[in-house]
Amino acid sequence: CEGLFLHLNRLVERYLPSAVNPFARMGAVANTAFAISLISGILLLFWYSPSVNHAYQSLEALREGSFLGQLMRSLHRYSSDACLLFVVLHAFQTLFARKFAGPRWLAWVSGVFLVGVLWLDGWLGYWLVWDERAKYVALGTAKLLDVLPIFADPLSRSFLTPDMVNSLLFFLVFFLHMLLPLALGIALWIHIMRLHKSVFFTGKRLTLVIALSLIVVSILHPATSAAPADLQRLQADFTIDYFYLFPLYLTQHLEGGVLWLITLIATAVVTAVPWWLPRRKTSVPTVLEERCNGCEQCFNDCPYNAITMIPREGRVALKSFIDPRKCVGCGICVGSCDPAGIIYPALPPLAARRWVNQAVQHSPEEAPAVNVAFVCAESAGGDLAVDADGFSPELPDYRVLPVPCAGWVHPLLVERAIRRGAQRVLIVGCGSDPYCRKGPAWTEERLEGRRKPAFRREKLNGARVGFLQFNRADRKRFLDAARAFARGESPEPSSISRWQKIALAAMLVIGLNTITVAPSDAPFLASASPAPELVVTFQLPGQFVEQPTASTGGQEELLPHMRSPVTLERRRVPVRLRVTVDGKELLRNAYKPGGLFSDGTSIAVERLPIPPGTHTVGIDIGNTPDPEEWNFHAEQVLEFTAGYRHVVRFEKGVGFRWY
Ligand code: HEM
Ligand code: SF4
Ligand code: SF4
Repeated sequence: CEGLFLHLNRLVERYLPSAVNPFARMGAVANTAFAISLISGILLLFWYSPSVNHAYQSLEALREGSFLGQLMRSLHRYSSDACLLFVVLHAFQTLFARKFAGPRWLAWVSGVFLVGVLWLDGWLGYWLVWDERAKYVALGTAKLLDVLPIFADPLSRSFLTPDMVNSLLFFLVFFLHMLLPLALGIALWIHIMRLHKSVFFTGKRLTLVIALSLIVVSILHPATSAAPADLQRLQADFTIDYFYLFPLYLTQHLEGGVLWLITLIATAVVTAVPWWLPRRKTSVPTVLEERCNGCEQCFNDCPYNAITMIPREGRVALKSFIDPRKCVGCGICVGSCDPAGIIYPALPPLAARRWVNQAVQHSPEEAPAVNVAFVCAESAGGDLAVDADGFSPELPDYRVLPVPCAGWVHPLLVERAIRRGAQRVLIVGCGSDPYCRKGPAWTEERLEGRRKPAFRREKLNGARVGFLQFNRADRKRFLDAARAFARGESPEPSSISRWQKIALAAMLVIGLNTITVAPSDAPFLASASPAPELVVTFQLPGQFVEQPTASTGGQEELLPHMRSPVTLERRRVPVRLRVTVDGKELLRNAYKPGGLFSDGTSIAVERLPIPPGTHTVGIDIGNTPDPEEWNFHAEQVLEFTAGYRHVVRFEKGVGFRWY
């Protein structure tokens, strides 16, 4: 599956500049989209009214009344969608590239938390519109929360009738929607704390493309609400944003307990990926203290913040220390250390030098000059068949040494190969979105003399050292380019014109925006026209009865003088409900009192399917110990139509209400 991302990178970078390739920096694209979402969300507050009674109208008013307000609303929605899209792509890319192992577990685990919080924020955001979609979001949330012992009165009862909707709860949701980005910020800080010089935001050009394309999409396809929330309505004939609202399919059909089980198991399985999926073995380098001159280059180069400079006795004040808990074993620090004081155990310097000596000597008499290739194990050359002497049938003009990362290659090793008679030296990196983050970038800078230890021009003939970057999906082009380099030719330049490049870039932008917008406004495939239902609900205390406690009761058979004093406890009796439709009993049930000591109120929510048509509905409620005594009664003739429900609500002191 990793091939998908490698191919995308290969295709884009073949024709377009690497800096505008969104697939090479998907975490950064997610951050940029999130920043746009944050800014547009804050600006939207100028128009939005965070109250359950006015929220819907305040957003509807934007459609006719305010171009800027509507633009902010659409931009807020689509940038949030783009953010989640790229977060998910970024997560899959790190999964397929196996970038989760070892010390990267922290980024992985915090990433799982990030995606959860991001989704939750979007889910709650849809609640704030208080339209039909919001109603389903609220009902789904209530289903989940009602399983937990938080609310004495189930939350789902708040969404039975309009006058039961709690405006404080609505405001709480609004508050959470504002607060969760703060949690995201903290989690993001943890997410990248082990990365050195993280690519946090996209560069200027890509940011401009993302912002402009989202603005254009927002104007062309403005975000809309569904119909206003109607709590009596059962039909779900609206569109949903599949990025954030796909769990509606689950909350619609599954019970709260099952939903929790699925969520917990899925979270545990995904979070534990770094420990249960097989990963590459890491080889942690060691520092030769006697060689370390405290120059701090390895400290500056390590992409994973695994190196600290610690004080030491003697002439040099500092020495380098590699923390094995943070080191991913990329080997980049080996190439950073000018005095060659860092040893990579899987490929120690002595072995590497010996290999170079032998590789160059191995050339036959008639062709004395040989080419040497240092090939990154994650690059297009990573799976070349290479024997111990470096012979590879696919690159017969080279002696190939597989290395952990292009950044591992030390300038001294390259100089040695040339000094010993190598005709050309080729370094091969894994291309954009490198496995070891900074390896190819540092190699390029060292080659250009912009980073220490620089390749010394006077020691190498510049034209004889080449640096190619191809990811594993680009094998053919890598082989062609390597063979061309061996012949002293430059690799073929990209063969398309400027206009073709612009057309390609436009297609990429349109494609990505379509993938962002199309699923954000797609039909919710719920059952077309559900049967009508009758919902009966009450919250009523049963009468108190006194009965002996378990320890003092049951003494009737003892003689009176042998009995110990009886302690009485007060409990409420269960409240009973009977529902008749057209004189036929449809339901008879008793509801236990709540509270630890069975002294709380009884709560009932019953949903009964009723055939369409006119029916006489009778409700009887009894809260006395006598099972045949019904002390509250009401009856009404109701018209039931498909897709709608009637609610009968009984509250103490208020009586029956029919909706
Ligand atoms: C709001 C969501 C997220 C954002 C904004 C985000 C952003 C980023 C950024 C900016 C980087 C640094 C890239 C670099 O400089 O090389 C990064 C690295 C990383 N992210 Fe995320 N990320 C998010 C979610 C996730 C998720 C859901 C996962 C996986 C479950 C994940 C896994 C990783 C890993 C493993 C790395 C380290 C990659 C490496 O070692 O080269 N991230 N992320
Ligand atoms: S091998 Fe070196 S550069 Fe790579 S993570 Fe370990 S200490 Fe850092
Ligand atoms: S690069 Fe080498 S010399 Fe410089 S601090 Fe690191 S280990 Fe020491």
